Amino acid sequence: MTNNKRDGFGSRFGALVALAGAAIGLGNLWRFPYLVGNNGGGAFIIIYLAFVILLLLPVMYAEFVIGRRSQSNVFGAIKKLAPKSVFISIGILSIAVTLTILSFYSVVGGWTIEYIVQSFSSDLFKQDNGALGATFSNFISAPVRPAVMHLVFLGLTALIVAGGIKDGIEKYTKFLTPMLFVIIVILLVRSITLPGAEEGLRFLFYPDFSKLKASSFLDALGQGFFSLSLGMGCIITYASYVNKRENIRKMSLTTVVADTLFAVLAGIAIMPAVFAFGVSPTSGPSLVFITLPQIFAQLPFGQMFSLLFFIVLFVAAITSSISMLEIVVAYICEEFKLSRKAAVLYSSVFVAFTGILCSLSEGAFSSFRLFDKNLFDLFDYASNNIMLPLGGLLVVLFVGWKLKRKDVLDEMTSGGTIPMNRAIFGSVMIILKFIAPLAISIVMLNGIGLIKIF
Ligand code: PHE
Repeated sequence: MTNNKRDGFGSRFGALVALAGAAIGLGNLWRFPYLVGNNGGGAFIIIYLAFVILLLLPVMYAEFVIGRRSQSNVFGAIKKLAPKSVFISIGILSIAVTLTILSFYSVVGGWTIEYIVQSFSSDLFKQDNGALGATFSNFISAPVRPAVMHLVFLGLTALIVAGGIKDGIEKYTKFLTPMLFVIIVILLVRSITLPGAEEGLRFLFYPDFSKLKASSFLDALGQGFFSLSLGMGCIITYASYVNKRENIRKMSLTTVVADTLFAVLAGIAIMPAVFAFGVSPTSGPSLVFITLPQIFAQLPFGQMFSLLFFIVLFVAAITSSISMLEIVVAYICEEFKLSRKAAVLYSSVFVAFTGILCSLSEGAFSSFRLFDKNLFDLFDYASNNIMLPLGGLLVVLFVGWKLKRKDVLDEMTSGGTIPMNRAIFGSVMIILKFIAPLAISIVMLNGIGLIKIF
């Protein structure tokens, strides 16, 4: 496969749904609502929005500039834009972090398939919290079933990516991403019409500044990074398939708005129901696989809502996992001159294996621990706290300091065809040069405990 006829998105809408699909994922559904509620509701949302607009949107611009300018995979992009520079580490790090995240993300993707299947059986709906917790932990610690579900999830991801950009990723995300919004709105309407829903809305939106902690700022930034799929070459890779005439500033903004809107909608779909049934809010796997089934069990037509919810979870996960697999596939195709099918095969066999290890680390291999964590948690921790912020840091330094200012402007204005206010461009550059590197470093060093500011 050569570069002279490189695949790309066929339409603006196609690019946007792919980007939004990549950004909207498990992070929006199981982490954002909980973080918001526990960090002062509306107060946290204000901070989150400020970070997203002032810091993360410029980081996204930076990734767009790298990807669209180079029209290349993450590794090739840096090689093209700055041959022989230390920034080639962006390429290496991106591939490494992508494989790390995809390994456990695909396992969770498998869990969503299991719960879609379970939604058809009445077992899931008879149980109390303790029993649901046991069902969940028995399932994820079993040796075979969760590993098989991971392989099914990964197989579906691979099939979509094997189709290419226009005839694979774009074709599927065109209906999957809009479907996410449709289903979440149905769930939202059900949730806010439950008696006692106001309590949940209050938990989410009432701005309680006294509940803001110093760590809330770090949580907001870290969550924004992960949720917007920044710092791992995802946006760089997708941007490389975006038409040269497109307005990448608008596209970045649309992606950010879609992701944030979905996170808020997810919060409104989940928290009022949680409060209406008097259960306490949780986050992560226990929210979606234990707390929510407990609610579905008590809801009229709960089985149907359960099915819809796990479909949303599955779709959100798969549109993100295809973006991750694509990062690796683009790299293998272009750097090793292999066909797309071969690249998909090699990368998914690799992730099949590392994912199985992650899955087993919840059960059979749980005694194998590094830094007091099983493999699943270790991958999760290392990617979120170290590799993603490091990737983001390198990206902003690269665009802020290494690329020529006029080239950055040229790309942001699509070759001068879409004018950009000079003051805004100047501010973006200041953010990329100074503010973002500083903010990201603080978050990262604090996250891994090397400094203790908060
Ligand atoms: N943004 C996705 C989420 O919120 C996760 C993700 C991270 C996807 C990085 C792709 C790349 O779940």
